[in-house]
Amino acid sequence: MKQVQEYIKKNKDQFLDELLELLSIPSVSADSSFKEDVQRTAEWVEKSLKKAGADYVEIVETNGHPIVYGEKMVDKNLPTVLVYGHYDVQPPDPVELWDSPPFQPVIKKTEIHQDGAVFARGACDDKGQFFMHIKALEAMSHAGFFPCNMKFMIEGEEEVGSVHLADFCKKNVEKLSCDVIFVSDTAILANDVPSITTGLRGLSYVEVEVTGPNKDLHSGVYGGAVGNPLNILCEMIASLKDEKNRINIPGFYDAVKVYDDDYRRQMNKAPFDLKKFKNELNINAVNGEKGYTVVEQTSIRPTLDVNGMWGGYIGEGAKTVLPSKAFAKISMRLVPNQDPDVITELFIKHFQSIAPPSVVVKVTPHHGGEPAVVPTDTPEYKAAEKAMEITFGKRPIPVMGGGSIPIVPFFEKILGAKTILMGFGLDSDDIHSPNEHYGLFNFFKGIETIPYFYAFYAELKN
Ligand code: BES
Ligand code: MN
Ligand code: MN
Repeated sequence: MKQVQEYIKKNKDQFLDELLELLSIPSVSADSSFKEDVQRTAEWVEKSLKKAGADYVEIVETNGHPIVYGEKMVDKNLPTVLVYGHYDVQPPDPVELWDSPPFQPVIKKTEIHQDGAVFARGACDDKGQFFMHIKALEAMSHAGFFPCNMKFMIEGEEEVGSVHLADFCKKNVEKLSCDVIFVSDTAILANDVPSITTGLRGLSYVEVEVTGPNKDLHSGVYGGAVGNPLNILCEMIASLKDEKNRINIPGFYDAVKVYDDDYRRQMNKAPFDLKKFKNELNINAVNGEKGYTVVEQTSIRPTLDVNGMWGGYIGEGAKTVLPSKAFAKISMRLVPNQDPDVITELFIKHFQSIAPPSVVVKVTPHHGGEPAVVPTDTPEYKAAEKAMEITFGKRPIPVMGGGSIPIVPFFEKILGAKTILMGFGLDSDDIHSPNEHYGLFNFFKGIETIPYFYAFYAELKN
């Protein structure tokens, strides 16, 4: 282990240079005009896995973007760890709100990241994080330190629902067989408050279309008599929550797991400063479900949010029009034990039922996913805990996360293995947002911590 850590210390500049190169390829999975860049990123990852000492690496083409798969198999009697990550990134839009171009990474200091942070789309989500695993492998290879067998599966479609990865997993259960899946695509509470993510929310995502008259109309000639789809869509959406900010869809809460007071008290012990939270976001008040703390609202409680809404005239100046159609994209974050298919059905039924007779409503479901739960009484959780305790000098706290990685619960079903979510980002790193960044402290701390995980896991698993 000493040699591993020495190699990391000596090669920090090199690791960082390589990360900057990776971040300069715009691997936007959602936008087909980036298809070649996504392919190029897969090849870059393949090369870096080979260089790091994987003894088998392949690019698996799919009907979407490719999957990079690699192995470092040492001894079939040792436990096997499957590392999962994603090299695709979210679209950088709105580009004009970035302080520097999203695919020209720059290093800057911030109030939180006094040692500097890399600014680029994908810096934290997830290039900077999966790349820590490749560099950890490189350091372990250099030292000949292999306490576990290692498999790597880095995909290019996480941000668009991991559709083809699901197929690949189903068809390659044997090849992917492992004792645990190891993922760094989440956050810690703060650089001096390490934490391990013990849950992720699920997702149901729908697009709604409200149609009124068969064409756009003059809002003076027809307005007042003909139902306006935009007005009506707003009313329908507004009615989806009550004055307590509870979701009004019948049956929506039926399967929601109720956590007892003891558990809730425990989870609210994690450091959280409401004033600081509001200050950072420049809001005067939060607006969550009554009866729950912000920590609870963003982890163990489900949500319903409009992600985008459009229709009518949104160009310069004023145009008087009564639009024919109105649209919205609506997401619902789900918690144990809600089922995304059931929730989507409940939404469709309810949304149809509240439509007034003056409009027709169409609801189209998008990709979804189940919530994930990570138990803390396992060898892998204890190994992650010990690893972070050594490198941070503090015992990490278990924290339920608010985001979603729908492939995680799917892994458990298909591969029969649990996942450990040991990410090193911060909630304030602006993932999916302009000026995404990843702290250098976090990047190097991750590389340092990962080898300890393998060491402790091998020890505890036997
Ligand atoms: N890495 C995130 C998920 C995440 C973020 C988990 C922060 C915990 C903390 C992942 O890349 C992501 O963005 N997932 C999407 C869902 C996906 C289906 C597009 C999400 O959560 O919106
Ligand atoms: Mn991610
Ligand atoms: Mn993401």
